[in-house]
Amino acid sequence: MKYVTLPSARTIPWKGTVSTLDGLPVRESGEYIDQKHSRLEYYSNMFAGGMKNKWPNRVYLELYAGPGRCKIRETGKEEVGSPLKVLDLNFTRFIFVEREEAHAQALAKRIENHPRVEDVEIWNGDNFQALDQISIPSTRTLTFSFVDPTGLVEINLIKKLKQIAVKGDVLINLMDSMGIKMNWHYYRKSIGSNCKLTRLLGSDEWKEFRDLDSQQANAKIQELFRAKLEALGYLTEEYNVPVMMNGNNQLYRLVFAAGDQLGIKFWRAAVKGTTPQTDFFDQL
Ligand SMILES: C[S@@+](CC[C@H](N)C(=O)[O-])C[C@H]1O[C@@H](n2cnc3c(N)ncnc32)[C@H](O)[C@@H]1O
Repeated sequence: MKYVTLPSARTIPWKGTVSTLDGLPVRESGEYIDQKHSRLEYYSNMFAGGMKNKWPNRVYLELYAGPGRCKIRETGKEEVGSPLKVLDLNFTRFIFVEREEAHAQALAKRIENHPRVEDVEIWNGDNFQALDQISIPSTRTLTFSFVDPTGLVEINLIKKLKQIAVKGDVLINLMDSMGIKMNWHYYRKSIGSNCKLTRLLGSDEWKEFRDLDSQQANAKIQELFRAKLEALGYLTEEYNVPVMMNGNNQLYRLVFAAGDQLGIKFWRAAVKGTTPQTDFFDQL
């Protein structure tokens, strides 16, 4: 395993929950996390398996990787985190970026005995700083990236990602209901150039929506974000899937930005959770 500590790593000792299994940090989450993880795993499996004869190098790159384990609040059960969901799949290289030292180290410990350990890189530091140093060949390489922040993502991070992972798809956790909509009463009054919505979009175009209610503003801001992804060269036809709590409360969206039409085809199947026909990959 390659483990890199960057100057932006946060070295605050972990005071949160630890796993009853290995005593290492875990992230607390709701049962809804399964909706995110199952789609991620399904898509990753199709991407890594389906592309193995076409692309010799298949990279999985995760920004905001977490500690590799989570605890479900409702049940007290523990589940593996996203990095460990994809590690058995047919990627040739795994890159994880995580700012908290306690999380990055826990992730490294949880991976150290995995058969794929030699194909793993952990970058402990801020995503932007890590992307300054991570290098992915632009030829014969296809990358699937997962961007999973706890707050609002920044379009400039996706822009930077696109410069490094030139070919491939990106799945983004977009905190719309729990982020844009819930905080609209406060965001709409923001004036600084560094505020969250301006960073989401890379511009202050959202300010035209100041007089709209939270639902209307959320919809408009999402369309702007989508246009920004398109401007970076991604296809967004099969744009997003809501993640719900208790069946009817929407929390956030999984936004899919495809590198090409095949990515869209795969994502459609992942959303439906359908098993591809045996000849699916032969037709590609
Ligand atoms: C939602 S959690 C990740 C969960 C994980 N993807 C999973 O599903 O198991 C977000 C993680 O991002 C990390 N993080 C927050 N800001 C970051 C930044 N600027 N750069 C890198 N990691 C960051 C947090 O420490 C946290 O572990």
